[in-house]
Formats: sequence, C-alpha cells, structure tokens
Amino acid sequence: MALDLDSIGKPIGPLVKEYDWKDVVLYALGVGAGFDDLDYVYEKELKVIPSYSISAAFEFLMTSALNSQANLGGILHGEQEIIFHAPIPPEGTISTEGQITHMYDRGEGKGALVVSQADSVHDNGETLFTNIFTLFCRKDGGFGGEAPPKVDWERPERDPDFVEDATPTEDQPLVYRLSGDIFALHVDPAFAKASGFEKPIMHGLCTFGYACRAVVRHLFPGEPERMTRYRTRFSRPLYPGVPIQTRIWTTGDTEAVFQVVNGETGEVVIDHGVVEWLDDAGLAQREKRRGGIRYDDRVAVVTGAGGGLGRSYALELASRGAKVVVNDLGGARDGAGDGSARPADEVVAEIVAAGGEAVANHDSVSTPEGGQAIVDTAIEAFGRIDILINNAGILRDKTLVKMPAEDWDAVRSVHLDGAYFVTRPAFIQMKQQGYGRIVMTTSAAGLFGNFGQTNYSAAKLGLVGLMNTLKLEGRKYGVKVNTVAPLAMTRLTEDILPPNLQERLTPEFVTPLVLYLCAEGCPVSGGIYNAGAGFFNRAAIVSGPGLVLGDGGVASPEDVAGSWEDIRSLDGAEEYNDAMALLGPMIDALEGKPRKAAGGAPAKEEPAPDAGGGLSPADVFAAMPDHFVADAAAGVDVVFQYKLSGDGGGEWYTAIADQTCTVGDGLHDKPTTTILMDAGDFVSLIQGKLDAMAAFTTGKLKIEGDLMKSQLIEKLFKF
Ligand code: NAI
Repeated sequence: MALDLDSIGKPIGPLVKEYDWKDVVLYALGVGAGFDDLDYVYEKELKVIPSYSISAAFEFLMTSALNSQANLGGILHGEQEIIFHAPIPPEGTISTEGQITHMYDRGEGKGALVVSQADSVHDNGETLFTNIFTLFCRKDGGFGGEAPPKVDWERPERDPDFVEDATPTEDQPLVYRLSGDIFALHVDPAFAKASGFEKPIMHGLCTFGYACRAVVRHLFPGEPERMTRYRTRFSRPLYPGVPIQTRIWTTGDTEAVFQVVNGETGEVVIDHGVVEWLDDAGLAQREKRRGGIRYDDRVAVVTGAGGGLGRSYALELASRGAKVVVNDLGGARDGAGDGSARPADEVVAEIVAAGGEAVANHDSVSTPEGGQAIVDTAIEAFGRIDILINNAGILRDKTLVKMPAEDWDAVRSVHLDGAYFVTRPAFIQMKQQGYGRIVMTTSAAGLFGNFGQTNYSAAKLGLVGLMNTLKLEGRKYGVKVNTVAPLAMTRLTEDILPPNLQERLTPEFVTPLVLYLCAEGCPVSGGIYNAGAGFFNRAAIVSGPGLVLGDGGVASPEDVAGSWEDIRSLDGAEEYNDAMALLGPMIDALEGKPRKAAGGAPAKEEPAPDAGGGLSPADVFAAMPDHFVADAAAGVDVVFQYKLSGDGGGEWYTAIADQTCTVGDGLHDKPTTTILMDAGDFVSLIQGKLDAMAAFTTGKLKIEGDLMKSQLIEKLFKF
C-alpha cells in the first residue's frame, strides 16, 4: 500500500487525554527520575518534565501514522520537535488537534518522511505546546514526492559544556510503556527478535525523556517551565541497561545543542538536539501575557510602523499573536525624500526573529493607490484585515504667516488624507467581515493647539471628525473606531520634548492603550484618549447646558453679553453621541422644559425622576402581558431584550410570536433588539412621562440590534 497523499491537511482530532499527578509521576519514573529529581515525582509542588507533552499527544502520532497509510512494518520515529507556549499543569485535560503537513520522498529504497503537527490545548484554555512529529517510513520511498529539506545543525568543535551520565535499567521500557507507547518491540522478546533485535529495545522517546531531564538540570535547573523548544533526531536503537551520556553545548544565552551517546560504543543515539529556553525577561513577558489580551488570527495594519510609536504597536501586536502589515514609506521627518524600504523591513525582521508573523509594505498612505495597496498587502498575505492603526505622520512646523501652501498640503495629505485613503478600503473589508478595530492618531496640538503647528493641528483634529462619524457608520458592522493622542520621544519630537523625561517617554508607555483599543474586548467606540509616560485619560468634546435667550424672538448681542457666563458655562456639560443628539436638549430648552445637568444628575429645579409612584420595572414586566395588543402583533416575530441599570434594574425580555407575548427574566439567547436604559427612566417611558424619541436623542435610551423593530414596542404595548 502506498502513502495516501490525500491525507495531507485532513484534520486529526481533537484527541482528548485526561491526566492527573499520577500520570505525570509515572512518566517521570519511566524516563529515570527518582529522589534526585523529587520535583518530578512528588505530588507536592509537582513539576512536569517538558517531554511529557509527547506522551499527552501520543495518540495523535499513532493516528497520523495510520492515516498516512505508511507501511507499518517499516515505521520508525525519525524526529521530534516540541514548541512550548505555556507551562504544563500537573493535571487536567489536554485536547490535541492537528494534521499531516508534509510527505517527503527520499527515493526508491531510501524511505519517506511523514511530518505531522498538532497543537495541544489544556482545559485551562491555554495552548500548551505544539508537537511536530517526523515518521521515517523505511518502506515507502520512491513515490515521486518532494525531497526532504536539509536540516542545518552544528555543534561546537569543543568538549561539551555539560555532560550527564545515566543508566536506564534493564526494565526501563516496562515502566515507560505505561505512559502510552505499548508497542510490542519494547516488551515482547519474540517480536523484538522477529524485528531483527536481540531483545526488546528502549523506546526512542524514553531516551528523549532522559535527555530532557538532563538539559533542564544543567541549563535551567529546577525550572522546566522555561523550555520553549526541544528538538531531536533519533539516530540509533539502544538496549535497556546500556549507559547513556547526554552531551550539551551552549550556543547562546538561551540556546544549546546536544547529543545522547551510547556509553559503551560511543555511538550517537539521539542527534541534532536543540533546546531553547526563556531568560528572566522572557519569562516575565510570557507570564504577563498568559491569559491576557491576545490577537491570534487577527490581521493588523500599522501605518508608519518603521519606527517610533508605530514600531512599538506592531511589535506588541505581533508578540500577542497578530499577523502584522508593517507599513512605512521610510521618508524624512518632514516627508521629504524618496523613502526607503529599510525601516519597515527591519521591523518585520524583528517580528519574525521573535517568532511572529509580519510582512512589509512601503507605499505612501497619502495617495488612494497607496492606501489600497497597503490594505491589499494584508489581504494577499493574510486574507483579511481586523485592525488598522492610522499612525503615519510627518511634521512641517511653521507659524501660519510663514506657512506655504505646500507645507500645509504635505502635512494634511499624510495625516488626514492618508487616514482616509487607508481607512476606506480597510473599512469596506471590515464591513464585509462584520468586525474591525480602527485607531486614529490625533495630537494634543490638534485637541488644544500648539504654537507653530497650524497645519498639523488642523489635520490632527480632522482625524477626530473622521472618527466621530465613522464610529456611527461602523456600529452595526462591529467596527469600533477610537483615537489616541500619544506623547512619546521619537524622531518627530526629540527636539521638542524635554530630554530629562526620556526614560518614561518611550513609545512603549503609549502602546498598552492603543492595543486595548484594538482588542476584541474593547468596550468603546468614538473615544479620544491621551497616553504617555504611563499616564492615561480621556479627552472629549462636550456641550454645556446653555440657556434660551430672546423671549421667543431673536436675541440681541446685548442679551448674549448679559448671559455670557451661562452661555459659556460647562457646569453639567454633556457629550453627544451624534449631531442629532444635540437637538434633544435644544428642543427641551425651547419648550421651556427643565434642563438636566450632565452625568444624569438632575438640575436643581428638576424633581428627581419619578419611579412611578413606587412602580418598579419588575412590576412593569409582570403587567406586560396584560397590556399586550395582540391585534397589533399579526406576523410579528421579535424578542426585545431589556437591560436596565440603577435602582430596581435588571434583565428581562419579551418574546412576541404567533400574536402572543412571553415575558422572561434574564438574557434571551437571540434578542432582535436590546434596549438599555436607567430603570427609573424606563418606568417614566412606560408611563408616557418620558418621550421615546427625546430619550433616544439624549442618549437615555440606547438601542442595540434591529433599531427599526424597536419602534414596534409602542404599538405592541399600551399602558
Ligand atoms: P515617527 O517619525 O517615528 O513615525 C512616523 C512614521 O511614519 C515614520 O516612520 C515615517 O517614515 C512614517 N511615514 C511618514 N509619512 C508616511 C507616508 N506618507 N506613508 C507611510 N509612512 C509614512 O514619529 P512618531 O512620533 O512615532 O509618530 C507616530 C504618530 O503619532 C504620528 O501620526 C504623529 O503625528 C503622532 N503623534 C506623536 C506624538 C509624539 O509625542 N511622538 C505626539 C502626538 C502625535
């Protein structure tokens, strides 16, 4: 039977293995641990030998061997590589999924290699490790496939830096096999003889476990959780009872190579050993990330990411799993020059060297073609775009009087036009996907002004306007748009900011906020946030309570002068979600209705919200079916979810179908429309004391989901 090439890429798993401390200890005993390695065999503060991961994924190896249709009589375990993502807990359930990824042909009579790869996820939610198995299929060569790639491996030409001697007992395979590999070759003398051996041989993976203990002991003693990579090639069989020596050469601060040799013959039984681990900084970084915000499977575009702030965003996104398009034109600080590919390419190289995924793009943001090409790079390389950070920027500072039109144009064209040119194609893609996160970059100069930066300030505040409207257009497609006003020492600001602040003014102090705004869990859209030196706050455009002047007619300038303090007062100022929301308070004021202060706090002259003579939302929902107008519900099939905050608040839903109304507590799993408001306002609304449209325009009533259907409520319930 020939190798089944169609099995490549077919999913295998999930294969689930439950384990507890006894499994971990049994494995450790199987690979020679004892009192010298108490951490591995005593359930008190038990540590897991990293190579246990192969035992947890052993069924996957067996399944991929079977699925490949390789001749089982000729299979040997050729190579094994494990990438560790998180420490292995001493108990739990591990679920392993993967696929056969390659089949290589070494030629007729020379065998074939079947390579498979699997990720194993613990029930704590963490991906613990990725196994890459290479089976050497001695009898399957010559199928006309691609030759295997050459593996580069070298060991220093010096004596090993560390050696570890061990002698597995004659009975070692009998213990090791209890961890899963019960192949007869390691236990049955007759089978071993028929396979051409004098007696049962050691499991290659058992020797692999011995070597794993040895490298941990010498390179990062007592801290197996530091291991990030462990790779070996199985080169010769070994009989139990034969002494072995693990020889280790360090090749870097966190890398070493090793071999295991037969202590009697000097033959190498495990070759091409590679081990990598985390130093203190790496460990701290991993700990920080574990369970934290991740961007796995997300594709991010960061413009102007060849240096400064953009570089920091790109590195951090990539280190948390995002695939990143690093855009940078590579021009001068004022945008002059032809540009250079180097800045973007170097950031990509940094990301790749750290194990991340990134591609470079060198287009300018400031043309429609450039913007499109930047987004196309993401689609071509990674198939989608989830995150866009509009960060590219230049400066051409001059006072207005000295500013030629070309400097005005150049600055506006990179910051404001550039954001439009990149955001438009990105937004089209995000809309189709139903998901997106966009961050604009403004500046304190735009928000508050800065002498000599009229071009820059105007462009930067323009970005806030772009965000204000895009947040509305993106809402129903899951696209959130926010704006950062950063402060950091970069080439843009190195001669502007005081050098004594240098240490805390690095881009890394801004990055956490920008990454949060790009996260799936980002709770806001349409916000402006200042970030720098570890300080974070929100900036906002607010509107004061104001007053009506003119006694029903047109007010005079003198009226304005006479009420100037009231006009300009921001006491009780409010933010508006959109331009129409300003109409609510304006109409209220014109109709002489009492004004409210911001934040929901009532103005002095207004009575506290009437909860309806003691009526609570619970009472309202209990009475809802009695007020249901069945005639108005013909053909209506909707679920209204209510989320009411404040005193007496809670969650209820009303489900209307077949002209009947069902009221329930809590959250419905498929609401058509969700209504969010304060419990007191809700009761007032039901009682007709609060106008629905006014509540909506002033932000007291928020509606998620199908806005149109919310208008049915008025018809369906008459109180
Ligand atoms: P930076 O000069 O280090 O980074 C800007 C990057 O944008 C450069 O690598 C540049 O080559 C690239 N770029 C310029 N024009 C481009 C174009 N047409 N197409 C593609 N890439 C282009 O400066 P920094 O400080 O990192 O600036 C990042 C953003 O933050 C800018 O938008 C800037 O206005 C803004 N900002 C920075 C502040 C700070 O304190 N550093 C303060 C307020 C805002």
